[in-house]
Amino acid sequence: MDLGIKGKKAIINGGSAGMGKGSALALAKEGVDLFISARGEKRLLETCEEIEKKTGVIVKSIVADHSSDEGREKILSSCPDPDILVGTCTPPPFTYSYEEVSTEEWRQTLDVSLLSPVEFMKAIIPGMVERKWGRIVNIGTGAAKTPAEVRILSGPPRAALVNYSVAVSKKVAKHNVVINNILPGMHHTASIADRYNKLAEENGTTYDEEIEKFVNNWKIPAKKFGSSDDLGSFVAMFCSEQASYVIGQSLVIDGGIGNTTF
Ligand SMILES: NC(=O)c1ccc[n+]([C@@H]2O[C@H](COP(=O)([O-])OP(=O)(O)OC[C@H]3O[C@@H](n4cnc5c(N)ncnc54)[C@H](OP(=O)(O)O)[C@@H]3O)[C@@H](O)[C@H]2O)c1
Repeated sequence: MDLGIKGKKAIINGGSAGMGKGSALALAKEGVDLFISARGEKRLLETCEEIEKKTGVIVKSIVADHSSDEGREKILSSCPDPDILVGTCTPPPFTYSYEEVSTEEWRQTLDVSLLSPVEFMKAIIPGMVERKWGRIVNIGTGAAKTPAEVRILSGPPRAALVNYSVAVSKKVAKHNVVINNILPGMHHTASIADRYNKLAEENGTTYDEEIEKFVNNWKIPAKKFGSSDDLGSFVAMFCSEQASYVIGQSLVIDGGIGNTTF
């Protein structure tokens, strides 16, 4: 299916790995030119080169922290008039007791996973409205909908982001500016590889065994972790020409672990 977005320009904040990279690749396959930000230069350059080679689109790398004012200025000066914005970050740390979460940890997680996407939306929506075309996808977390103490630094800021983006989506939909969210469950990504390889080393097991343990403990119906590239295809769908009537939705992609009907 042709998504009708060839030649559009996309900022992918946090696109050198994981679901950001999966989204970048899916958009590039549709002929979208990319402006990808990440803090680490080496992995970012490798990712940009890989996507350019695979798809032939223009991929510009921007070494920047999208949670800082300077980082946002750098990203927006590289691409002041994006048609598409995809926002993601490294998952906030796991927490084992709500009582142990410090004010500093709250401030950090709010900066990166709530205030950053809010500031980007405020900065780029006026241009999208003027041009009568825009697509924004925030990659949040299933924990926004299904709270858990262990994900207390991840779920609450994204629940706020979903609420905010739905409110804004209703205001700008008439200008063909479309805002939606993806709420992932467990996926194979760079951060998950770090976490479960470390656990495997500590426990004398393998990555696959640790994933299997998690899948069984948390009873994931699909019996596996998801693929970042598959999730990226759904991001691209939300960025398509055909998405103009899909307003303020939050798609859960979690292998069935969530337990709500809608
Ligand atoms: N993976 C899962 O199973 C899972 C489950 C539920 C929800 N999620 C959510 O899905 C999203 C993506 O997770 P992921 O596992 O794909 O992450 P990941 O593998 O750690 O990739 C994160 C990407 O974002 C970049 N990044 C992080 N912070 C940044 C910042 N401040 N400025 C610019 N770039 C930044 C990273 O590069 P640098 O480090 O070089 O900056 C990297 O490219 C997160 O919102 C996470 O909470 C993930």
